[in-house]
Amino acid sequence: MKVLLTGAAGFIGARVGAALRADGHEVVAVDAMLPAAHGRGAQPPPECQLVDIRDAGTLAPLLRGVDVVCHQAAVVGAGVNAADAPSYGSHNDYATTVLLAEMFAAGCQRLVLASSMVVYGQGGYACGTHGSVDPLPRTRADLDAGVFEHRCPIGGEELAWRTVGEDAPLRPRSLYAASKTAQEHYAQAWAEAVGGAVVALRYHNVYGPQMPRDTPYSGVAAIFRSQLETGNLPRVFEDGLQMRDFVHVDDVAAANALAVTACHNGFAAFNVCSGAPISILEVATQLCDARGDARPVVTGQYRNGDVRHIVADPGRAAEVLGFRAAVDPREGLRAFAFEPLRG
Ligand code: UD1
Repeated sequence: MKVLLTGAAGFIGARVGAALRADGHEVVAVDAMLPAAHGRGAQPPPECQLVDIRDAGTLAPLLRGVDVVCHQAAVVGAGVNAADAPSYGSHNDYATTVLLAEMFAAGCQRLVLASSMVVYGQGGYACGTHGSVDPLPRTRADLDAGVFEHRCPIGGEELAWRTVGEDAPLRPRSLYAASKTAQEHYAQAWAEAVGGAVVALRYHNVYGPQMPRDTPYSGVAAIFRSQLETGNLPRVFEDGLQMRDFVHVDDVAAANALAVTACHNGFAAFNVCSGAPISILEVATQLCDARGDARPVVTGQYRNGDVRHIVADPGRAAEVLGFRAAVDPREGLRAFAFEPLRG
C-alpha cells in the first residue's frame, strides 16, 4: 500500500516509518521539523520531505494515489501555560482539518490517527463501598497531608484505580488533551461525512531509544533518564505509587503497522499499551538498578493538574487489531536506561 506518514522524523514517526517499510509499504514521509521537537534549523532525514501539513497546496500532490494516511505529526506534552494553546490548536487541530479536507479531495478514505491516553482525563476509579465512581478532584489539603488518592464522591473513601476501556467518556484536562480530543472528533465526523475509516490509536506512556531529552514538554521517562545521565537521581513525586502503562516505541510502531491494514468502516479507537501497569517509583527504580545507581528519591511533592492513575485495558486492540505488546515494560525500561536520547 502507499502510505502518507506525517511526523515521520519524530521519535515515534521514525519507528513507524521503519515498521511500514519493513512490511513492504511505499511510504511518503513528511515532517514540519518543528524547532520544539527537533531544534532550530534541523533538516529532515534523507527519506523524509520538509512539509507543514497546514499548507494544503503542498499537501495535495503528495496525497495522489495514497491508500491510507498515518498521522503522527503533533505538538506534544502537557503544555507549559496558556500561551501554548494556539500552537496545539494550529499544529494538532487546524493541521488535521486541512489533512482531512485534502484526503477527501484526493479520494483517500483511510486514516490512522495518533491519539493519546490524555483524552480520558483522570482515568478509571472504584470505591470499595460504592463501586465504580467518578472521582472528586484531589484537594490541596489532602495533597499537602500526603493523601494522594482520589476520594469517593459519595462517602469520601479513598479510591482504587481501574483499567480504562475505549468507551470511557473523553474528558480532556489540559490544552494538549483538548487538542487530541478535538482531533479525534474531527476525524470521527469526517469518517461519517465521507464514509471513511479512522483508527485512532490512544498511546499510553511511550518510551524507547531516540526519545527526546528532558524538555518542559517531556514525559517522566525522558526526565528520569536525563537526570541519570547528568549524575542526578530521579525525583519521584507524590508517594511514587501512581500507576501508568509504559509502552515501548517499537510496540507503538507495530500497532500502527496493524492499523494501516485494518479492515473496518467508520471510527474506532484503541488503547495502545503494554497491559502491564507499573508505578512511577518502579519506573525510577528499574532505571536506577539497571545503571547501578543509588535508589530514586521520593519527594512527596506534587504537581497541579497531574493525573493520579491512568491504566489502560489492552483487550480491544488485541481482539480487533491483533495487537499485543511484545516488550514487557520492566525489561524495556532496563534497556532504556542505556539507550540513546535525541536532542
Ligand atoms: C504524559 C504527558 C502527556 C502525554 C503522556 C503520554 C505531561 C505532563 N504529560 O502524561 O501529555 O500524553 O505522557 O506520553 O507531559 N513525575 C515524577 N517526577 C518527575 C516528573 C513526573 O515523579 O520528575 C510523575 C508525575 O507526578 C506523574 C507521573 O510521573 O505522576 C507521570 O508524569 P508525566 O509523564 O509527566 O505525565 P503523564 O500524566 O503520564
